[in-house]
Amino acid sequence: MKRTILQTDRLSKSYASDGVQTHVLSAIDLSLYEGDFTAIMGPSGSGKSTLLYCLSGMDAVTAGDVRYRETSIVGMREQDMANLRSQHFGFVFQQAHLVSNLTLFENIAVPGYLKENRSAAETRTVAQALIERMGLAADAHHLPSQTSGGQQQRCAVARSVVNDPDILFADEPTGALNRANTLEVLALLGELNEAGQTICMVTHDVQCAVRANRILYLEDGAIKGELELASWVASGTDSAKPREAQVSAWLSSFSW
Ligand SMILES: Nc1ncnc2c1ncn2[C@@H]1O[C@H](COP(=O)(O)OP(=O)(O)OP(=O)(O)O)[C@@H](O)[C@H]1O
Ligand SMILES: [Mg+2]
Repeated sequence: MKRTILQTDRLSKSYASDGVQTHVLSAIDLSLYEGDFTAIMGPSGSGKSTLLYCLSGMDAVTAGDVRYRETSIVGMREQDMANLRSQHFGFVFQQAHLVSNLTLFENIAVPGYLKENRSAAETRTVAQALIERMGLAADAHHLPSQTSGGQQQRCAVARSVVNDPDILFADEPTGALNRANTLEVLALLGELNEAGQTICMVTHDVQCAVRANRILYLEDGAIKGELELASWVASGTDSAKPREAQVSAWLSSFSW
């Protein structure tokens, strides 16, 4: 029986501008489970990013509830929310958003110094292990501008897990990468998940979504379907093709 990490209760989000309300998310009930790699798919504008931001406390909900373990994050004080995000959540976006005047190593280590109950020396050891695991050891002392887009995004993945987050949220983490770099970042996410990391990733890309063991389909701000897959074995030799065919067939039952 999987343990629930995050749960929503009729989560709704709307924006008001010029007196007109735009409903982006409508009464969403979903749970994220420990150890799962959940992908969120859906057409452009369906509310995927908004949902990810509401789940992770980066954006406020309009109505309904979001509970992280037993605690409601709706209406949480900003300081408590910032603390929750820095201690328990990790984030990767389409762009790496590295600090330009810090080396790759420092970009990974700096958020790690905020981790409670861990010394700076321990954080540096964690950062060093991550930089090696991400294949960036030779670039550790380069500035982001001296590295490629793929290296920068691998650095962003390393930074996102330096605090050993309970949940890693990723919004189209490969959206700005070429195919080779996409596969590398996906392999890293797969390895992290295989080692127990819970991941929630928004993606447009079937080749990305097949790495998940569960896919949610969002359309017009509501969850229209859910597909369970066997866990992807990152170290295995299974071809992705049958999974891609399965996911594509499932997607074709929506207006994908
Ligand atoms: N700050 C905002 N103010 C008003 N409307 C917004 C705001 N942010 C998002 N929206 C609207 O909410 C809807 C969902 O946006 P969202 O970015 O969540 O979609 P998405 O599924 O992530 O799309 P994409 O695949 O293109 O990234 C869109 O219609 C968008 O215009
Ligand atoms: Mg988006």
